[in-house]
Formats: sequence, structure tokens, C-alpha cells
Amino acid sequence: MATASAPGKVILFGEHAVVYGKPAIACAINKRAYAKVKKNSSGKINIKAEVKDLRYVKKSIEVSFEQFNIGSGIDIEVSSEIPSASGLGSSAAVSVATLYAIAKEFRKSISKSGLAKLGHRVEKEVQGAASPTDTATSAFGGILLIEPSKNKIEPLDYVNLNLVIGYTGEEKSTKELVRIVKEKKERNKVLESIIECIGGVTCEAQELISEISVASSEKEKAKKYAALGELMDINHGLLESLGVGTLRLAQLVHAARINGALGAKITGAGGGGCMIALASSEKRKKISAAMEKLGFTAINAEIDREGAK
Ligand code: PMV
Repeated sequence: MATASAPGKVILFGEHAVVYGKPAIACAINKRAYAKVKKNSSGKINIKAEVKDLRYVKKSIEVSFEQFNIGSGIDIEVSSEIPSASGLGSSAAVSVATLYAIAKEFRKSISKSGLAKLGHRVEKEVQGAASPTDTATSAFGGILLIEPSKNKIEPLDYVNLNLVIGYTGEEKSTKELVRIVKEKKERNKVLESIIECIGGVTCEAQELISEISVASSEKEKAKKYAALGELMDINHGLLESLGVGTLRLAQLVHAARINGALGAKITGAGGGGCMIALASSEKRKKISAAMEKLGFTAINAEIDREGAK
């Protein structure tokens, strides 16, 4: 029997602008999807899945069987700690974990970039179109810079980020929100500058992350974390102006700020789904308690460094 797991993700900076060629920063979080696979002699594929959307499990089985020339039956169990359709990359994590567990059970070697590619194929075949961000982040882990103009996804220096994820409980459709922004952009030329501006915020955040990773004193680090939080606030305002904010997201963002977050913003497509707050370790509890008091789900998360394993 083989087991594998793969993390979910949040987008730290640059969502939506990335659709128009600007850079974005995503990071893997320590919430995972798990897969357990065992060959069987019946020739049947028996799936036991505690996930909402079985299509990603089925497609991952189909794609890996084709890729690795597998003809045997399997018993497979899949579960996930990541809420679905929330923007936390649950379908990518489920796909990557399933693909990896199957590869391991049949002793097929596959690199992280191979896993990211196969995972992306699964997402594309299920959804029709998909960005490679979620599957790459899930496969590699850590913090990644996504640069569509250079067709590049590259790891950034590792820094520890204490995140509180606030989940509105509302499922959202990324496709629909990308369409809403596109239409608004066609109506309002000023959105081009806003998208440009989001790209600028992402570049500044990238610099700050590398400065935090080499900061020599705690005092210097704290100053840089505060600056990173401020950039999150700015990014949030810009996302609001694209029209992807909701009342529930705004309530969560303000609850986080009032309770001491260094910064807070929508993460992912918006229109529901999740927001993230950057916090010091001391403030994290207070922020998540405030979110839960308002009736939302709070998830304390850190950056996952390992990716698929
Ligand atoms: O909410 P998510 O994880 O589906 O993020 C969507 C990010 C967008 O920039 C809005 C779309 C994309 O494909 O990059």
C-alpha cells in the first residue's frame, strides 16, 4: 500500500492581475489532501472518497494509468482537510495526492515538476481550462512567484508567515469572477492602471519576502513583516476596486485588522471563498476568535515547505 499527501494553497499577492500577465505570489499551506492506494487482483477500481468532487480523483486515476501504463485494479481512499471551491486549491491537492500515491504504489518515479504537469493536465481536463498555479504550488510547496509573461513558476526564499484564513462559507466560481473583471475592464479603462498597480504591489512584496529571509535582527524582521501586511491591505483595496469583494469578505478583513492583523486581503478569485490575514504569533488567536464570533470559519495556517510527499 502507498500513501501520499499534497498541500492546498493561498494566493498572497497578485490574483486577477495574473490573468493579464502580471506576476503573482502563491504559497502552499499546511492543510492537505491525502490518498491511500493499494493494488488489487479483482481488476476493479474501488474509490472511497471523503471529498465533494469525485471528478478530480477519477481523472487522476485515468491520467496516471495512461501515463504509467497501469492495467491493474486498485482500492483507493482520498480525504482532504481543505474546504472545496473556497480558493484554497483543494482540487489541485486532491489531484496531486492521488497521482503521487498511484505512482508510488506502482513504483513509478516522478519528479515534482512531473507531478505539477500531470496535476495541471487533470485540472484542465476536468475544468476545460486551469491555471498551473495551484498544482505547481501543491507539488512543490513553499512560496512561488508566478510569471505568466515568462511562462515561469519559481520558488522564492522561504519565510515563516503566520496566516489566519477566514472562510466565508460561500462557494465561488473562479471562471465567473474572471469574467466579471474582464467585463468591468472593458467598461472602465482605469482598470488597466489598477491591474498595473497590483503588479507593482506584487513586485514590492517579492522584494520584502527576500529581505525578511535575510533580516539579521528581530526588530528589522518585524518592520518588514509590518510592511508586507501593509501591502496586503493595499492589494485588498485594489481587488475591491476590481469588483470582487463581498460583504462577508469585508467583515472578515475588518475583523482581522481591528484585532491586530498586520494586514488582510481577499485571497483567490473573491466573490466568496476566503480571505487571509497576516499576524504575529501572539495575535493569531485573537483574530481567529473574532472571525468565529462573527460566525465564520477561521483556519490557522502556516506555509508548507514540503509540497507533495
Ligand atoms: O480562487 P482561486 O484559487 O481559483 O484563484 C483564482 C486566481 C485568479 O487570478 C482570479 C484566476 C487565475 O487563473 O489566476
